Amino acid sequence: MSVSFIILAAGMGSRMNSDTPKVLHHIAAAPLLHHALTAARNLEPARIVVVTGHEAALVTKSAEAFDPSVECVVQDPQLGTAHAVAQAAPLLAEMSGEAIVLYGDTPFIRPETLEAMLHARARHSVVVLGFEAKDPGRYGRLVTSGESLKKIVEYNDASDEERRITLCNSGVICASAKTLFQLISRVGTANAAAEYYLTDIVEIAQASGLSAGVVICDEAETLGVNTRAQLAEAEAAFQSRARAEALENGVTLTAPETVFFALDTHIGRDAIIGPNVIFGPAVTIESGAEVKAFCHLEGCHISRGAVVGPFARLRPGAELAEDVHVGNFVEIKNAILDEGVKVGHLTYIGDADIGEFSNIGAGTVTCNYDGVMKHRTKIGKRAFIGSATMLVAPVTIGNDALTASGSVITENVPDAALAVGRSKQVNKPGLATKLMARLKAIKAAKGNS
Ligand code: UD1
Ligand code: CA
Repeated sequence: MSVSFIILAAGMGSRMNSDTPKVLHHIAAAPLLHHALTAARNLEPARIVVVTGHEAALVTKSAEAFDPSVECVVQDPQLGTAHAVAQAAPLLAEMSGEAIVLYGDTPFIRPETLEAMLHARARHSVVVLGFEAKDPGRYGRLVTSGESLKKIVEYNDASDEERRITLCNSGVICASAKTLFQLISRVGTANAAAEYYLTDIVEIAQASGLSAGVVICDEAETLGVNTRAQLAEAEAAFQSRARAEALENGVTLTAPETVFFALDTHIGRDAIIGPNVIFGPAVTIESGAEVKAFCHLEGCHISRGAVVGPFARLRPGAELAEDVHVGNFVEIKNAILDEGVKVGHLTYIGDADIGEFSNIGAGTVTCNYDGVMKHRTKIGKRAFIGSATMLVAPVTIGNDALTASGSVITENVPDAALAVGRSKQVNKPGLATKLMARLKAIKAAKGNS
């Protein structure tokens, strides 16, 4: 059975007090919108349509960055949630199969919950995702009778009796695409807000003899972000779940509460992650790798047997093959380190390829930027780069080559050659003592004046 998604993301989110549209605020190093898109993509949908409005161009760009096959439509002006869904009609109304409406600011709906809604469609034409609210506040209330959902009433339009209902509307709704758009075309604006309410489709369905029902999920799943405080709450909720999942999957976390994951972090079984490790987007770590304390990782891959840190920074494009060692105060960006490479201390490797079993001495810098362009450093297999070598790119170091400590390497080094790129040392006997005496005399003369 095919399913398509409509993700509502037109609202401006004024309570965020921000120039950034709400759905582009981040939790777990990813925009809120990407969380909703991830939930949708997990069901292998036929199509995903995002309804944009406020800062439509920015939101569209972010949706397309997530997946170029995501389609975006603009809702302008924003006349309510039913009006928002209606903007997707030109794309989806003729689709066979199911349609599910999600909100771009509600990041935690689980794929299993969406599956349960699709299953419930066997019993009902319209399925609404509800939750028992600890504090029902201003949520829409679900008016039920046995198995049947009679209507959804918005807080502002609810009677005192309806306001006492604690079963609330999450906003997620599922129906066949055809039914959804047919019902929506009949929604009016006779309500306190004079808006087109998506929630009205339940009563309209019932009136036309179609049944509606509820799937209930945990309140935590429906957590919506409206304020910065809720954004922080959502971040904390995400992190505690991600930590528990990592432990469950066989990852050792020495101090779980100090490790911060991204939405797309992947870590293999028996990897060890020390305290205070921060994951940015797009990090994958293979089984049995170790990341020691205080590392900052983004856009990188760490293979089996590799050891990173403490205090290492891996930036986008850092690819560490098996058994690579990266030590303290090392930064690696856009570089491929083949099997067994060692970069132990105080080093910058940027825009580089390093062949297997090469050793990079302390304080080495790949000088990759000339102020205008970036250039690549290529180091062969089993090379030995002496401490404090400056590799001025573009430059190539051959297999089994060696650079002397403190060298500034501006020319290619052939295989097996020793490169010395520094001035020759000269020792002047006794000159140190003489020099010190002279400096002390100068200081004393100043003190007397
Ligand atoms: C909505 C539901 C309410 C439910 C609550 C859950 C309606 C009428 N009410 O209320 O029953 O309990 O969500 O959080 O549906 N949006 C658009 N275009 C619009 C209006 C809204 O894209 O014209 C988007 C918003 O950006 C947001 C979502 O739809 O992501 C929900 O809109 P919002 O105004 O927050 O609805 P609520 O009043 O919270
Ligand atoms: Ca809301």
